[in-house]
Amino acid sequence: MDDLADPLFNQLKDAAAAARENAHAPYSKFRVGAALMDEDGRIFAGCNVENASFPLGTCAEAVALGAMVTGGGKGCTHILVIGGEGGLSPCGGCRQSIAEFAGPDCVVYSLAADGTQLMQWTIGELLPHAFALKE
Ligand code: THU
Repeated sequence: MDDLADPLFNQLKDAAAAARENAHAPYSKFRVGAALMDEDGRIFAGCNVENASFPLGTCAEAVALGAMVTGGGKGCTHILVIGGEGGLSPCGGCRQSIAEFAGPDCVVYSLAADGTQLMQWTIGELLPHAFALKE
């Protein structure tokens, strides 16, 4: 684990797990929660929201990022995702979405739904050479 103090990690975990409880995943049955910390230390959470028109479904990370933006947050320093039985990691699209609001050192944690099997990366490791519009 990086320098994020344990109480803050637990806050992220609890927020993500609570969000996961509200996941709308009747099609995949794969419920995911995400929680992130913004640059001011505020926590925002999201869950996956699926749709009968499958491509319209939204990942938990994107919902959490949207909550941050709606709340005036400008950047994400840590994000935690929880779901499955182990080995969960953000999809490619979510990696790009995280990179939109994070420097390469933003920490990404993953947990199985039962809170075990912690994995940790930086977004720079998960998405090297992220696309960015340069002037
Ligand atoms: N999903 C997420 O919400 N986040 C991830 O990191 C991986 C996948 C969702 C999308 C879909 O609703 C379900 O999990 C199965 O793919």
